Amino acid sequence: MTAAPPVARRRLAPAVLIAVGCFALGLGAGALSSAALADGDAAAEPTTSAAGEAVPRVTASGAPDVSAGEGTVPAVEVTTADIDGPGSITVVVNKVRPLQPEQYAPEDLVTVADVPGDATMREEAAAAMTALHAAADAEGAGFAISTAYRSHSAQANLYAAYAAEQGADAADRFSARAGYSEHQTGLAADIRADGCNLEPCFADTAAGRYVAEHAWEHGFVVRYPPDSEDVTGYIYEPWHLRYVGLETAAAMHESGIATLEEHFGLDPAPEYR
Ligand code: DAL
Ligand code: ZN
Repeated sequence: MTAAPPVARRRLAPAVLIAVGCFALGLGAGALSSAALADGDAAAEPTTSAAGEAVPRVTASGAPDVSAGEGTVPAVEVTTADIDGPGSITVVVNKVRPLQPEQYAPEDLVTVADVPGDATMREEAAAAMTALHAAADAEGAGFAISTAYRSHSAQANLYAAYAAEQGADAADRFSARAGYSEHQTGLAADIRADGCNLEPCFADTAAGRYVAEHAWEHGFVVRYPPDSEDVTGYIYEPWHLRYVGLETAAAMHESGIATLEEHFGLDPAPEYR
């Protein structure tokens, strides 16, 4: 998908334009995903973009709420995303929201095609990653995947190794305990560029710059943004991409809200309970 046209950037996220277009074509609600159509709760607070301009209210589904918008915009049923189900693409996992069950393993893992690294992700996320990589590669910003899906036991071993090496307090700032990692959902990937793997330097590589600007176009967010450790619980990880689906990623891009916790109106998760 290409970047949103100027009109969309001014008023509505691409996902909403698609939804509105479906209504205009007479496809109605049936054309939208079931996740976007389940009955939902109240919308989150109104927000403004980083530039200070008003943007649509964003519901917990990640879809901007156009129901109270300008007269020419048809009402669109917007809903609550599933942020709890381990198999939901919008599941929120952090230090106060472990996977339930903590031993969860996805059932639709596939190898991420055409991206160096031989990594696995859930099918929808893998396809989106392949598309993101192709777009990045075409701009000279190719990357490889270091790891994507990690099982509960793999995450346990990794965390234990970091904790043994650096101490638990240090490890907790960049490595999740088993049952608390997005990698266990099959929706997250750590990507690397030549000469920079899992280091802050990734942000200054062509790949790092590309994904910071364009990952949302393929449904990904940089999950641990700068200066957000008090919200996410983790230091800036410019390499850690999380697939959340196009609706949520586009809404976050539009609003300028950088963390899933803030987007969904959740408590900050700076440390384990
Ligand atoms: N690096 C992230 C926080 C993880 O281990 O899941
Ligand atoms: Zn990661």
